[in-house]
Amino acid sequence: MPQDKVLSVNNLAINFKTDNGILHAVRDISFDLNRGETLCIVGESGSGKSVTSKAIMGILANNAIIESGNIMYRGENLLEVSEDEFYKIRGHKIGMIFQDPLSSLNPIVRIGKQITEAMLINSDKLKIMYSDLISDDLIRYKNTLAKMNIEITNERKKLEAYIAEVKAKENASAQERAADRNAIKEKKLAFKEFEKKTREKYAQRAKELKAVLEQTEQKAKQQVKEYKEKVTAEYKAKLAELEKKLAAASGEQKKKISQEIEEEKLAFTNKLKITKAEAKKRALEIMREVGIPEPERRFKQFPFEFSGGMRQRIVIAIALTASPEILICDEPTTALDVTIQAQILELINRIKAERNLSCIFITHDLGVVANMADRVAVMYAGKIVEYGTAEEIFYDPKHPYTWALLSSIPDVDSKEKLEAIPGTPPNMIYPPKGDAFAARSRYAMNIDYREEPPMFKISDTHYAATWLLDPHAPKVEMPKIVSERIRISLEEDKGDE
Ligand SMILES: Nc1ncnc2c1ncn2[C@@H]1O[C@H](COP(=O)(O)OP(=O)(O)OP(=O)(O)O)[C@@H](O)[C@H]1O
Ligand SMILES: [Mg+2]
Repeated sequence: MPQDKVLSVNNLAINFKTDNGILHAVRDISFDLNRGETLCIVGESGSGKSVTSKAIMGILANNAIIESGNIMYRGENLLEVSEDEFYKIRGHKIGMIFQDPLSSLNPIVRIGKQITEAMLINSDKLKIMYSDLISDDLIRYKNTLAKMNIEITNERKKLEAYIAEVKAKENASAQERAADRNAIKEKKLAFKEFEKKTREKYAQRAKELKAVLEQTEQKAKQQVKEYKEKVTAEYKAKLAELEKKLAAASGEQKKKISQEIEEEKLAFTNKLKITKAEAKKRALEIMREVGIPEPERRFKQFPFEFSGGMRQRIVIAIALTASPEILICDEPTTALDVTIQAQILELINRIKAERNLSCIFITHDLGVVANMADRVAVMYAGKIVEYGTAEEIFYDPKHPYTWALLSSIPDVDSKEKLEAIPGTPPNMIYPPKGDAFAARSRYAMNIDYREEPPMFKISDTHYAATWLLDPHAPKVEMPKIVSERIRISLEEDKGDE
């Protein structure tokens, strides 16, 4: 069945400039998010999960350098769109929930007010209508400028990184230093030239697009005005009719018509923008939707008066006021205890199904993955080392790192944690050659230390980057612990049927 892609990440590589050198946080990853599915990204601490989600949200730290790749959403590369447009997409279409709900709530504003305000911003009809009408042209114009700035900034960052690297060199001879100084000078000149050319290239295009935008803005203003006039005229006519009826009526009839008039007034305001009262009503509804008991009472409380689990529900509620299409959850339950964690996972699953959301769910816990995922991407040292459907990852894992993760899930029945993964993840300033997991893997072969394994295809949906899948590799079996668990759980599944 062909899948409907909502988001697609292609060959993304992200570095950070640090005092100790360039850190390679994300190294050439690609994945798609299909409509209505949950894709889990799983991996140990430092594997690049949060950096990936932050890149999608456009909230990478300042020292980030996007080395290569793109993130495509609705025909736009999110890495190239302007801040305004990004904000719009981020606020409206892609919502994010973080590990620590406190950081996304304002500690000194009552919960109800925070949700109501988000609701008001996201429901101003005339404003939304106007910005929808001009958005295509506005995006095109802004993005032209943004693309120019991004191209220049990226080139500048590369230059700065180069200079930092050269300066950090120890025991260089005088001769080498002189050569380096020359190289820097040349690179600086090349950058100046690049900047000039790039600005020229974009200037003409930006001018044309601005003219188009100004025309569209005029038209949009007119359209919004006409809409408002039409709605107002309809309302006035209806009101006049009802008032005439009211004058002729008596008793019960009169009461009924008065009520109709009130309803008509409310419907009218809601057609233009929602009132505070309506926003509050919807805020309470959404609090109920995310499972806050006694929302009327909770409405007036401050974030500190909520438990961790309830705060996370509030954060989810605020994200929902924008009716997002994609929800990114970065370890949203890590700070919660196990029972509360299960409730929040259930909530996310329910909302996802009811609102037909697509979800990227980030966790280091394969137990959580089992509850959430349609598909799974396993990340190690900035790379996706295996991806497949949840079934393929749990019942037919191929990468030694996936085996190691699977062996380390505590057994639900015996509660024993079977095997911790030996060793520590590599220092990403000096990412290892070949298969980055080799040093910690008892299945490592010589080639693993020399050459990077390609993504071997196992099925149309299942891929893994391990030399064990090479036709020349010796046949090895996955660890007994893993195969035993798979066998037991398959038998249990049979028993359930
Ligand atoms: N602003 C930054 N400057 C320098 N290095 C950074 C920065 N942000 C992240 N990193 C590094 O990038 C790598 C990936 O970090 P990331 O936060 O994506 O890990 P993660 O997989 O989310 O881990 P965790 O499970 O601990 O949240 C780490 O080595 C981290 O130290
Ligand atoms: Mg993280």
